Amino acid sequence: MKSKIYVLIGPPGAGKGTQAKNIANLKDFVLISTGDLLRENVERKTELGMTAKSYMDKGELVPTDLVARMIKANIKANIGKNGFLFDGFPRDLSQNTLLGEMLKEFDLEVDKVIYINVKDDAIYERLTNRRVCPKCKRVYHMKYNRPKHDEECDDCKVSLITRDDDKLDVIKKRLEVYHSLTQPLVDHFEKIGKISRIDGERTPREVEAEILSVI
Ligand code: AP5
Repeated sequence: MKSKIYVLIGPPGAGKGTQAKNIANLKDFVLISTGDLLRENVERKTELGMTAKSYMDKGELVPTDLVARMIKANIKANIGKNGFLFDGFPRDLSQNTLLGEMLKEFDLEVDKVIYINVKDDAIYERLTNRRVCPKCKRVYHMKYNRPKHDEECDDCKVSLITRDDDKLDVIKKRLEVYHSLTQPLVDHFEKIGKISRIDGERTPREVEAEILSVI
């Protein structure tokens, strides 16, 4: 049986990471999150990570050739699995062409794109209140998804951190990049009828239920 290919797309802070982890677990999909893979490289201080960090800290996209290497290795290692869920890739039209070429090698193509829509003002509120566990990477929100004890991971009992790119000026830049480069990709998927639009400004449970209903 052919692997199913799903793409989660949406502005920064739309809840892609929150949903992607749950959906991949529930559906037994291979999760490929470029943001997580890049942050892993930054943490391990690899050459790729060091180069990527200079772009990520400014809210810019990391050069596609660096991201493509990680993606290709991941697809190759998991071919034949039930399905793939991409979070954060493709991010512009050129990355979409590249993904198409990579998948074609394995006689695969994108089956559906799930677009989580959240307005800009809600994005600022979400990202300035996001905290992450540096150990297990669990994501919290200081209003909607608080840890049991102030700024401490419920599971690892270590202090939560703020992502380097969750500073106001960097969030602003990430949103600009999203509107100029990713929005045209959303329009493209709309035109070819592959997109399911989901209102991301509801509870995580409601968003999850709608995603599950379309995949
Ligand atoms: P990446 O990590 O992909 O960042 P992003 O797309 O900006 O998305 P985020 O991770 O910030 O947000 P999210 O949508 O996952 O939201 P989350 O679930 O955490 O990329 C980071 C950087 O890496 C990029 O800027 C770029 O430099 C580089 N990069 C990555 N991919 C690349 C690529 N393909 N090419 C080139 N460069 C690339 O939720 C956010 C907050 O909201 C949390 O606090 C959460 O608890 C809360 N929340 C979630 N859902 C809800 C809800 N329904 N209601 C209320 N709060 C909610």
